[in-house]
Amino acid sequence: MLLKGDNLTKTDKAVPTGGPNHVAIIMDGNGRWAQAQGKPRLFGHRAGARRVREIVKACPEQGVKYLTIFAFSTENWKRTQAEVAGLMLLFRRYIKKETKDLIEDNVRVRFIGDRIKLDNKLVSLMDELERVTAGNDLVHLTIALNYGGRDEVARATKRLAMEVAEGKLKPEDVDESTLTRLLDTCVLPDPDLVIRTSGEARISNFLLWQSAYSEYEFTDTLWPDFTDKIFAEILAGYGNRDRRFGAVRA
Ligand code: FPP
Repeated sequence: MLLKGDNLTKTDKAVPTGGPNHVAIIMDGNGRWAQAQGKPRLFGHRAGARRVREIVKACPEQGVKYLTIFAFSTENWKRTQAEVAGLMLLFRRYIKKETKDLIEDNVRVRFIGDRIKLDNKLVSLMDELERVTAGNDLVHLTIALNYGGRDEVARATKRLAMEVAEGKLKPEDVDESTLTRLLDTCVLPDPDLVIRTSGEARISNFLLWQSAYSEYEFTDTLWPDFTDKIFAEILAGYGNRDRRFGAVRA
C-alpha cells in the first residue's frame, strides 16, 4: 500500500492512502452477542459502545476522515420499551463519558436523524457535544440517531416544497443537488464504503441517497467483536476495488 510522506522518521505513523475517506457502519449483532453469553441485550449494546470508541480512535491512522455510524433507526422504536429506554440512557451516558476524550482526540461530532421524538435531555446533550466539538477536524464522526433514509428524504422534500411555496425555489430548478443540500448529511461527502457487521446483507434504510455509489462490505463479525484490526483489514481490502461510478475504465 502507498504511504503518505517519503521521509518518515521512526516516530511518524504511516497513514495509508487510497483508502476510503468516508466509512459508514451499520453496527449490527449486539443482541446476539449478548444472548450467546446468556446476558441481556443491553449488555451487548454497552460492549458495542466500547467498540465505537476503539474504531473512532483507529480512524486517523487509517486515513479515514469521516465516520458515520448507525446508532438507532426510525424502526428501532419497535423494540421493547425496556430496550429502547436502555439504549437512550446509553446514548446519554456515552455523550457524557466520551466528550472529554472526543475533544482531546480532535473529533468533530454531528448527529443526523429526526430529533423530534427524542428526549429533551438527550437532545440537549447532543446539541452541546456538537457545539463543543465544532472546531475539531481530525475525524468527523456522525452519529445517526432516530435516523431513517426514507424519513430523511421525506423531511428534505418537505423543506423543498416549502421553499417552492415561499417562492425561494422554482420547480424547474430542482435537481439532485437541491435535495442533497436539504438532507441531514448536507455537509458530508458521500460514503465511500459501507460496512455491515453480523452477517446480514441488507442496507436497512441507512444513507439510501448517499450510498448510491458506495462500496459495501458485509462481515460475519458481530459488532461487539469488531476490533480495530478487523477494521484495518477491511480498509486494506478496499484499495483493491475498482470504482467506476457508472463509467468504463479507459
Ligand atoms: C444493532 O444490534 C444495534 C443497535 C440497534 C444499536 C447500536 C448501538 C450501539 C452500538 C451502542 C452504542 C452506540 C453509541 C453511539 C454509543 P442488534 O441489537 O440489532 O443486534 P441483533 O441483530 O443481534 O439483535
